[in-house]
Amino acid sequence: MSALPILQLKAVGKSYGKTRVLKGIDLDIMRGEIVTLIGPSGSGKTTALRCMNFLEAYDEGEVWIKGQLLGYRSAGRSERDRDSDASVAEVRRPVAMVFQQFNLWPHMTVVANVAAPLVLSRKISKAEAHRKALAALQRVGLEHKADAYPARLSGGQQQRVGIARALAIEPEVMLLDEPTSALDPELVEEVLNVIRSLAQDGMTMVMVTHEMSFAAKISDKVVFMEAGQIVEAGPPAQLFGNTRTPRLQQFLKPWFDRSLSVSPASATEPALIAAAERGDA
Ligand SMILES: Nc1ncnc2c1ncn2[C@@H]1O[C@H](COP(=O)(O)OP(=O)(O)O)[C@@H](O)[C@H]1O
Ligand SMILES: [Mg+2]
Repeated sequence: MSALPILQLKAVGKSYGKTRVLKGIDLDIMRGEIVTLIGPSGSGKTTALRCMNFLEAYDEGEVWIKGQLLGYRSAGRSERDRDSDASVAEVRRPVAMVFQQFNLWPHMTVVANVAAPLVLSRKISKAEAHRKALAALQRVGLEHKADAYPARLSGGQQQRVGIARALAIEPEVMLLDEPTSALDPELVEEVLNVIRSLAQDGMTMVMVTHEMSFAAKISDKVVFMEAGQIVEAGPPAQLFGNTRTPRLQQFLKPWFDRSLSVSPASATEPALIAAAERGDA
């Protein structure tokens, strides 16, 4: 067993012009861990996630993937040389991203959407890419939609295709940015079920979510961000059951209030956790 994090952020910072939107993020993600990022809109969750695979270039600190520095030729200096695109691609090869808005190509069939990244970035044959794409679609229960166009699918099915596309590259880490927040409420569960089953298979995942009860159930670690910083991080029993910071208490209050309205007679913290585990929120 190696104790090396599969993904490591050390004092990662990011500014847009004069606005510093990430202010020194430290985070270790171990193989097999499920880490969820929660926090108010604008707190930097998406930016942090995008810095983890250099979709966004961070400008302070370091991101390490399996012991390799991502994005720059050297660590620790403020004036650093960017790595070549080829090196960046090589270092982030184990990492796949699932987007909030699915980002499927409308003019391509479902199977072509899943196969395209394999052909473009992994330089494998079209026939082999097609085969891997079908296997990934099967994993999310959509092989029967392989030849359909995205517009004919429900939002939940489109996001499952988005997940299949990420799976097809056989990643070791998946980054998911609010994968259910663009969905109608009745379509959320089918996508959460797919994510849950990947977690059960041991996939390492970092997920931004507003699905608090899902985060409470699935996470090994929950990270609460505010204003570009990590305010509190720890196991779900701490963040949802034994919250240490007033700011997180305030952030969670509306969710607790909804959970309480489900079981008003037993308004204790164990009851809240139980409500979370039942998925009442
Ligand atoms: N491309 C960009 N240019 C300028 N500001 C940005 C850009 N992307 C995000 N921001 C700003 O960075 C902050 C963090 O945004 P984001 O990471 O999207 O937060 P979250 O995902 O938590 O809602 C916000 O204030 C947002 O307006
Ligand atoms: Mg966001």
